[in-house]
Amino acid sequence: MKIQKVTVLGSGTMGHGIAQVSAMKGFNVTLYDIDDGMLKKAMAIIEKNIEKHFVAKEKITREEGDAIIKRLNTSTDLKEAVKDTDLVIEAIPENMELKKKVFAEMDSYCPEKTIFASNTSVLPVTAIAGATNRKDKCVGLHFFNPAVVMKLVEVVKPIGISEETLNIVVDFCKQLGKVPVKVKDVPGFIVNRLLGLLYHEAAQIVLEGTATAEEVDTAMKLGAGHPMGPCELADFGGFDIIVNAGDAVYQYTHAEKDAVNILYRKMVEAGRLGRKNGKGFYDYNEDGTKSQAKLFD
Ligand code: 3HC
Repeated sequence: MKIQKVTVLGSGTMGHGIAQVSAMKGFNVTLYDIDDGMLKKAMAIIEKNIEKHFVAKEKITREEGDAIIKRLNTSTDLKEAVKDTDLVIEAIPENMELKKKVFAEMDSYCPEKTIFASNTSVLPVTAIAGATNRKDKCVGLHFFNPAVVMKLVEVVKPIGISEETLNIVVDFCKQLGKVPVKVKDVPGFIVNRLLGLLYHEAAQIVLEGTATAEEVDTAMKLGAGHPMGPCELADFGGFDIIVNAGDAVYQYTHAEKDAVNILYRKMVEAGRLGRKNGKGFYDYNEDGTKSQAKLFD
């Protein structure tokens, strides 16, 4: 089977990014969410993104931009959104019970051919697939933020996946212009398993006063070639996400190395979530500037 129609579940940052990149590569996409307001917001972000990063930079024409938008539909009706689709990419909140419920429901709506992918960044895909009667057609497709830009997709192989499904989704990732890397279904896969350690140590360095967030970021950008320093990246991803993801990994490994740094918990308790609310390792100003925040002193 060749993927032609894609349904993305969840219109948050990852969902609308995946929907945009799929439409940009010629797929017909339905973006589903339970909240119509979220869908409207997501479409406005996609339109702005296409204008700012592609049309204004003359990477595509305005007509091409309009055609991309036309390939995107939205829906708040799950049955309608998935009923004749080839591939569902789920990007709803990282809650195992919720994901299982949605996968089980879709299983009854979708034709036999439909492949179910989860964009989960930490939860076991084998357990999500267990809610369906199509375990051979379930996979993890883990995209990175911003999904339109980042080249990697981790292709997570749950127990029971067929070779055929794997080949189809690898081919799909390549059609998106991404580089698929296959990985077994272990907590954190490759990237988040490593990033979790980086976030932890960065916070520890700041907490113990070895260096400031700005110094940590400068060191890692100039000394290790990272595009963003670990504190900037933690702000970019969101402290609430870091805590949830870290806890999900720890739940499986029970390894001390995977325990979430207390600084992130305290910041979430204090309402500092990172860039999304302008308060992280840095304070973000409306004019686009940022300054180091006072944390946990
Ligand atoms: N959509 C489309 N294009 C975008 C974009 C977006 N959202 N953001 C930036 N771009 C494009 C710009 O148009 C520009 O294109 P050009 O070079 O052709 O003009 C190019 O990307 C560079 O953009 P900027 O100059 O504005 O900014 P930067 O050079 O700082 O790049 C960045 C921004 C791509 C976000 C870069 O800082 C970066 O790669 N950061 C690291 C991101 C990262 O590590 N992500 C993974 C996080 S972990 C994760 O996602 C796990 C998951 O489980 C949550």
